Amino acid sequence: MNARHFLNLADAGGDALAAMINDAIDRKAARAALPKGAVDADAPLAGRTLAMIFEKSSTRTRVSFDMAIRQLGGTAIIMDAGSTQLGRGETIADTARVLSRMVDAIMIRTDDHAKVDDMAAHASVPVINGLTDLSHPCQIVADLLTVIEHGKALPGLQVAWLGDGNNVLNSIVEAAGLMKFGVRIGVPEGYDCDRNFIAQAIERGAQISVTRSAQEAVVGADVVITDTWVSMGQSGAETRIAAMTPFQVNAELMALAKPDALFLHCLPAHRGEEVTDSVIDGPQSVVWDEAENRIHAQKSILLWAFGKL
Ligand code: CP
Ligand code: NVA
Repeated sequence: MNARHFLNLADAGGDALAAMINDAIDRKAARAALPKGAVDADAPLAGRTLAMIFEKSSTRTRVSFDMAIRQLGGTAIIMDAGSTQLGRGETIADTARVLSRMVDAIMIRTDDHAKVDDMAAHASVPVINGLTDLSHPCQIVADLLTVIEHGKALPGLQVAWLGDGNNVLNSIVEAAGLMKFGVRIGVPEGYDCDRNFIAQAIERGAQISVTRSAQEAVVGADVVITDTWVSMGQSGAETRIAAMTPFQVNAELMALAKPDALFLHCLPAHRGEEVTDSVIDGPQSVVWDEAENRIHAQKSILLWAFGKL
């Protein structure tokens, strides 16, 4: 069998995504009493090693993948690109060939999405996208898990996105097409998300709309999501912040969503910019569950990539 790569959510598809979420719920419940570093009873990835390449900073993705592979019985090798030969110009293709002889799977966080495509094209082991400038599929598996865990069904769900049309939003839009929920996108002109992701989600039957009004985006929403206004590697912070200020998620804006609406943020948050303390620390915020769920989601992604889901 060819290696199963997870570069975008559509690589798995809607059924596999649903299976990942169900598996994450079951595994999370089954190990509730165990210490965080203990291995799951069935140790399904015993003897497997995951190499993780970071060309950008990370806290959650790095720690959650490391804990995930440990809990599944395997081990991780973390490579900061700057201290590898990749940082000195060895090609992605050659790195993929070498790592495929040494480890069982590769996770890469980088800038240009073409690099993960290149890695996947030359690797004979699964390659997982740990964030690119284009998308952040692993994050969205954790987000969907969090939403479901908090009692909301995906079909028909109304999600409001505020701020920047970035990599995280692209993957939310992709998920909307696969899992049949709606997204109202409130972003300023000039900061829209990727058109192809929107077109594909609409083709798959999702209702996706774009508005320049934060209020319009949020009215009646079941879930409100935002992210930093300045993603890693982006310049022009001052201009971006000025354009996105009307899209700040504050208590006044949150009040327009359904009374039981959830607030999500992939983190790290820039408190006082895209979200106020009163919202992120408030009763509707589920951001710490969302962060923890990165571990449970990564486990399901790894199991899927290894053909065990
Ligand atoms: N949400 C997320 O991917 O966080 P890190 O950048 O800390 O990995
Ligand atoms: N959009 C953010 C997400 C960080 C997890 C970035 O790319 O920096």
